[in-house]
Amino acid sequence: MDISIAVVPVAGLGTRLLPATKSQPKEMLPVGRKPVVQYVVDELVQVGMKRVLFITGPGKTSLENHFDLNDELVRVLRETGKEESLAELEFERAAIQYFYTRQRQLLGLGHAILCAEAFVANQPFVVALGDSIIGLHAQSDIVQRMKRCFVDKGAVAVIAFEEVPANEVHQYGIAKPKSDGELFEIEDLIEKPSQSEAPSNLAIAARYVLAPSVFEAVRRVHPGKGGEIQITDAIRLMIQEGGKAYGIRLSRDERRYDIGNFQSYFRAFVEFALADKKQGPALRKHLETLLNDHHS
Ligand code: UTP
Repeated sequence: MDISIAVVPVAGLGTRLLPATKSQPKEMLPVGRKPVVQYVVDELVQVGMKRVLFITGPGKTSLENHFDLNDELVRVLRETGKEESLAELEFERAAIQYFYTRQRQLLGLGHAILCAEAFVANQPFVVALGDSIIGLHAQSDIVQRMKRCFVDKGAVAVIAFEEVPANEVHQYGIAKPKSDGELFEIEDLIEKPSQSEAPSNLAIAARYVLAPSVFEAVRRVHPGKGGEIQITDAIRLMIQEGGKAYGIRLSRDERRYDIGNFQSYFRAFVEFALADKKQGPALRKHLETLLNDHHS
């Protein structure tokens, strides 16, 4: 079974990043040299995805423009001998096709995924949140591992997880795992539990492989936390009805960089900038000087 469609929801308003996101999508904010969503697509291309469907909304056209060919820009760079800059546009030619549809009402992530139903039809598919990078510079094959698990286990859902501090569990969907280890069966999922309700500190980390039966499940769940139709609740329903769902933990070197709030956005930017081959070493020195001055 070839799982080659990825759905990338990017319709959210990004209110936690205002004013930066007032007139530009949070998925287009740069982390180091690239906008967040370009890392997401790079990761998907690396694991052999062939079609990406973005679930968009008003104000997201810069994202569509970003993945279009820009012949005018290419021509100007050629004519002015800026070969080095031309290389930066190579991603435009990645072997992947882009599709866009709008989520016309912001009713939550489950609802955003439901907007992909006509496109996906009867195939399993990947969901990759457009505001989260996995691994420094998106060097992660987690989706590949998840696809393999989905097929081998005959699963209805495979989800990526990472451990979060206990005082952050209320921000995420949290798993109740059946066992320890890198791969585990999911007994239950709880969306944004309080610290005392949380069955573990394993938080859903922005990547899913889902069976098409999830659409039917989404239609049957009621709005949950925050009045939104949660994908977590739909997967939970599939588990309760006998479907097998599995979790795979991200490894140490494929941390999740969540660009949804300023704390993690700032951290991600600094980490990626420090890892930049050209600018990283000088930036490191600059930061050391700043920090030393601060302490003296
Ligand atoms: P978030 O809840 O983190 O995104 O959703 P948001 O709504 O933009 O955030 P705030 O709270 O206003 O700051 C996770 C992902 O799901 C998408 C978002 O675009 C993001 O990639 N999403 C969420 C949708 O596409 N549609 C929705 O109705 C909700």
